[in-house]
Amino acid sequence: MYYQRMPIEIESPEQLGYENVKYNLAESSVTDLNYCDLGITLDDLVICYGDHLGKPQLRDLIASEYEGISKDNILLTVGAASALFIVNTSILTNKDHLIVIRPNYGINIETPKLIGCQIDYVDLSFESNFRLDINKISSLIKSNTKMISLTYPHNPTGVVINLDELNQVIKIAENNNCYLLYDETYRDMVFGEKLPLAASLSKNVISISSISKAYGLPGIRLGWLICQDQKLFNTFLAAKEQIFICNSVIDEEIAYLFLKEKDKHFSKILKNIKNNFIIVKDFIKSQSYLEWQQPEGGVVCFPRIKPELKIDIEGFYQTLNIKHKTFVGPGHWFEMDKRFMRIGYGWPDSEQLKQGLNNILLSIEENIK
Ligand SMILES: Cc1ncc(COP(=O)(O)O)c(C=O)c1O
Repeated sequence: MYYQRMPIEIESPEQLGYENVKYNLAESSVTDLNYCDLGITLDDLVICYGDHLGKPQLRDLIASEYEGISKDNILLTVGAASALFIVNTSILTNKDHLIVIRPNYGINIETPKLIGCQIDYVDLSFESNFRLDINKISSLIKSNTKMISLTYPHNPTGVVINLDELNQVIKIAENNNCYLLYDETYRDMVFGEKLPLAASLSKNVISISSISKAYGLPGIRLGWLICQDQKLFNTFLAAKEQIFICNSVIDEEIAYLFLKEKDKHFSKILKNIKNNFIIVKDFIKSQSYLEWQQPEGGVVCFPRIKPELKIDIEGFYQTLNIKHKTFVGPGHWFEMDKRFMRIGYGWPDSEQLKQGLNNILLSIEENIK
């Protein structure tokens, strides 16, 4: 396998060094939590190999959120990232065909490319409000289509789909004997009503999630996949056992103790996201250089510098990063024009966010041609 690093990882704040980033608008998660604030003790924990599927009580707790799902449908993984890797490599070969939306979180595209399968993209465009074209998905189906891969709420745009649209895509998967990989890492962060867990709607769906994005615990590296197809589920377990046998029991324990108190922790997180979202909305309204499609969930948005504005785009990022020590996710992280930028508004506090947004304006002004 010829692994290549992705720009989103090479240029991530943790790789640049957090000390070089003063205004961090590049994160796709909420603020990372401090271990002491969780009030957790691990004194009695035995550091043994854990259950290969994952800590049963934690899987029970996750399952209790979803209709028709039991712990036996849940495989714990090392973040959502490894779940995506396991699903892609378990289902796709170089003889298969995949339909995947773009832009997308990197792994959802890079791992299929690595496998060498045939890929058709369903591009979400700014001009179509980043809406999903379901007819396009239907029209792309081939006899060797093995999987359709969607991410909702979407990263980097923050758009969502409705239940009717989700059901239509599931029908396409069922009618064509293929799977739907549904990355719903941001599920808990929709502004409107939550959809049912996609994997609870059909045996052809695999849902992916983690505690990284919504709960601010990305360093725990704890995610999961959910699937009702037992045979496929066993393949995923075999893949997990070959890559890392079981999860870290420390990570599982912290995730378990956190999720037992989820409502308490999450209500604070939601309040913060709502406040910061208002700041971003007001900012977009108050200026004339950027335009956006207003997000409907998650903690990121994907505005662009208006196409008619003549700007030195490389100079813009230089000024933003070096002079103003402000970081966003540039369009090329998502194979998009660099006029697009992902702004993460869940991570900085409100003052850092305001200053970071203002620095974007200053950097545009300093680079207008
Ligand atoms: C949509 C999406 N899926 C999966 C991941 C992977 O996250 P983790 O492995 O920390 O759960 C990310 C991280 O940015 C993401 O944005």
